[in-house]
Amino acid sequence: MIFEIRAKDGLGRVAKLSINGKNIETPCLMPVINPNLPLITPKEMKRLFKTDIIIANSYTLYKSFDIENIHKFLDFDGIIVTDSGSFQLMQYGDIDITNKEIVMYQNKIGVDVATFLDIPTKPYANYEKAKRDLEITIERGEEARMLREGELNGTIQGAAYLDLRKYASVQMSKYDFDIYPIGAVVPLLMEYDFSKLTEIILTCKKYLPINKPVHLFGAGHPLIFALTVLLGCDLFDSAAYALYANDNRYLTSYGTKNLNDMKYLPCSCPICSEYTLEELKASEEKIKLLALHNLYATYEEIKKIKESIHENSLWNFVESRIRNHPRLYYAYKKIKEYSDYIGKIDPFIKNTSLFYTGEETKIRPLVTEAKKRLKRVSTKRDTSNPLFNYPKALAFTFPFNIEGDIDLDFDQNVESLKTIFDYQFGRGTGKKFLKDTTVKKSKTNRIRYIYGKELLATLRARDNLFTLTSEGAKRLHRILKYPYYRVMASEQVVPFILEGRDLLSKFAVSWDTDLRAYEEVLVIDSNDFLLGTGKLMLSPKELEYFERGVAVKIRATVKL
Ligand code: GUN
Ligand code: ZN
Repeated sequence: MIFEIRAKDGLGRVAKLSINGKNIETPCLMPVINPNLPLITPKEMKRLFKTDIIIANSYTLYKSFDIENIHKFLDFDGIIVTDSGSFQLMQYGDIDITNKEIVMYQNKIGVDVATFLDIPTKPYANYEKAKRDLEITIERGEEARMLREGELNGTIQGAAYLDLRKYASVQMSKYDFDIYPIGAVVPLLMEYDFSKLTEIILTCKKYLPINKPVHLFGAGHPLIFALTVLLGCDLFDSAAYALYANDNRYLTSYGTKNLNDMKYLPCSCPICSEYTLEELKASEEKIKLLALHNLYATYEEIKKIKESIHENSLWNFVESRIRNHPRLYYAYKKIKEYSDYIGKIDPFIKNTSLFYTGEETKIRPLVTEAKKRLKRVSTKRDTSNPLFNYPKALAFTFPFNIEGDIDLDFDQNVESLKTIFDYQFGRGTGKKFLKDTTVKKSKTNRIRYIYGKELLATLRARDNLFTLTSEGAKRLHRILKYPYYRVMASEQVVPFILEGRDLLSKFAVSWDTDLRAYEEVLVIDSNDFLLGTGKLMLSPKELEYFERGVAVKIRATVKL
């Protein structure tokens, strides 16, 4: 399995996931296929939605069919994940198959990702039962790890007890599963207990390996995707599209509607464009058509989320989505209790400015970190907005330039540049960096370029933060002592870095652990010899765990 981050925001990531040579991009949806109730075939899904990963239930298959190869049987060449019958276990209390048998069966039929027979304890079962069930689940996980040939899900249980979820995450991490589903959350979803869901996800994330995908087991409603992706969930499985269709219910990213209560079809998918509400209700194919709309709505939300991760606007997007249900709004506020953990992984510099959408914006870890970094600046804090008291020199600098601030013109001068530099790189650095420099303005009459003998730095228009040239990097390298703002490259890649190739995570040896993703950094060799400068693409914790992906996107290298 390969899992490689392409873009990130919050704890969310757009990543490449490769299993058995088949590539998909996460976050992603795995539609549940039930061959006993065929509604939309995998082939049709592939054609309509470009579905490249599906999930089926191996216990149901085992009971009802004689299967040699799952890909042939389902006529699907994408990734096939199978569940184990755990859900039937939760519903009926008992099933007639052992953990060993169901794992061996999944080996036999050639699934891409198997699941062992975990015990999904209901959230509010008593503590003793939850603990007993969890011990059995962990034992079964260990057994399955030895029996399974290929990728394996390591489902995390522990009911609503956070100490058990932590224990499960720590123990299961030892067996190096390929994907970590968070289990038994369906009852919480049915009850809209998104606050408990948020606490469970964040507890598990904190103790699971950051370089493995996390699947929110049984979650298929688009209402909760944005929030749970922000919290670090990568995979979702949806039976909801079909179950809800059977029940006359219409899925949207802002909630569930009953066709009988609606006047219009407020969507532009092919189904809702072709049919009026009355025609849809009268159609003989109503259930299938409704299931198709439900899938369109579900895939659409995933695409919007991925787009917003690339834009680094996921927090803004989530703050709009949580307004679709009060329980989501309360759940969002739970994030505050996990701010330290999230802050270390969340990018500190974003492509999109911070939107102040209301009181809850204050809980973002980035706001806390920015306030901490304001202490680097000695200039008087003479300006304020709903989030910050800050020096006017930072009025155009991210994140102080919150959307909605309009009346902020001020005279840029060398002093204001020093303030920005101190904020970005540390107290006192601005004065030293800007010694014997001249500035050049942009066409819009704003200071944009800092020159010594050559160009040293550019003040980026988007967020009024500095990017360095190789001469600028040399100057900063002299000003800041090791290990500040540095990422050390392994000796073997030094020639490649000097050619301007990116530093890969695998070859990043050590780094300033206070750095945050998307900051401008210095790249050095093992003797603190400067090689170049660029943008840090991962957080320090991700640098530690990810073998794959770019660590520093190189902007400029020193000329030898
Ligand atoms: N489907 C929904 N929830 C669960 C769970 O906790 N475990 C398994 N195996 N499947 C599920
Ligand atoms: Zn539609």
